[in-house]
Amino acid sequence: MTTEGPRTDAELVGMTLAAHVLEGMLEAPAATGAFTALLDQIVLAAKLITGRVRRAGLADALGLTGDTNVQGERVQKMDVLANDTLVAALRHRGTCAGLVSEELEEALVFERADAGYLVVADPLDGSSNIDVAVSIGTIFGVLRHDPAAGPVRAESFLRPGRELCAAGYVLYGSSTVLVLTTGQGAHAFTWDPSAGEFFLSHPNLRCPPRGSTYSINEGNTAHFDPGIRRYLDHVKAKDAATGRPYSHRYVGSLVADVHRTLLKGGLFAYPHDAKSANGKLRLLYEANPIAALVEAAGGRAITGRGQRVLDVTPRSIHERAPLVCGSAEDVALYEQLTAG
Ligand code: AHG
Ligand code: MN
Ligand code: MN
Repeated sequence: MTTEGPRTDAELVGMTLAAHVLEGMLEAPAATGAFTALLDQIVLAAKLITGRVRRAGLADALGLTGDTNVQGERVQKMDVLANDTLVAALRHRGTCAGLVSEELEEALVFERADAGYLVVADPLDGSSNIDVAVSIGTIFGVLRHDPAAGPVRAESFLRPGRELCAAGYVLYGSSTVLVLTTGQGAHAFTWDPSAGEFFLSHPNLRCPPRGSTYSINEGNTAHFDPGIRRYLDHVKAKDAATGRPYSHRYVGSLVADVHRTLLKGGLFAYPHDAKSANGKLRLLYEANPIAALVEAAGGRAITGRGQRVLDVTPRSIHERAPLVCGSAEDVALYEQLTAG
């Protein structure tokens, strides 16, 4: 492999996302191919959504639908388009038994309820950024399902995030990047529209043990607990020996803020506050998949209230949870300064 300059096509061939997933399947003797087929469908949805996102302003895909979703949030046309694409892709191959989506009030049970997997998804993350062409994303997680346990119901999804067998996000940014974990590390694939493929661009992502940016909506400071304000004062104070003050970066799209934190280190937080007792992010299809990816890359993900995100047992499919994640040392500093 050349050590400088772009990889040659010969080096990229075989490094497709499909090849990576297939290699994983071949290493699992009991694999039936169903998991690979499911991931293929999720990747197909990502390919279709990235095309729509990139043409949104030309395809009457901007703006509001006029509806509000179960979250009480105004629904963007792209939210619905992304959700419809994902549902169609998941229904098609018969490997998904059910879906919990941010855009669907109830759990969606597919015809092939005997399939062995369930999917949780935020089809379009960062909706407030769609109309202004700022990075947005898609977030997904995969749970195993035992058809013998009975029909798929909402309760089938109410499992702690540590049970996810796969998690990922797609970042529709300056390039389209899909980050995936199936339990052996986190790997990033970059979309090459000329080839119509995702190619492995960042194998074995590792979140730096410490960073120099903090990412939080400071507009909520008046609602934060004193401990969180103590953390913010600390990272904004001048102390060259500890690399402070940190820089503040906040896109307002979870996928974009987390991707930067994962690659460059630092801390992302959407904490609980006086306005939102459990924060804003949804546990099943935002906090959990992100937490699984951050931990797979060597980082940490906590609720900021003494729990690892992946250990929280959900009580309802759209429940919210605080999320504090990123570099292990930065998360530990947050824990220390917000304790008590
Ligand atoms: P979604 O568009 O799927 O509802 O998610 C938006 C979320 C998340 O992407 C982001 O981190 C957060 O909303 C930003 O919220 P604020 O605008 O309140 O900071
Ligand atoms: Mn979201
Ligand atoms: Mn969303």
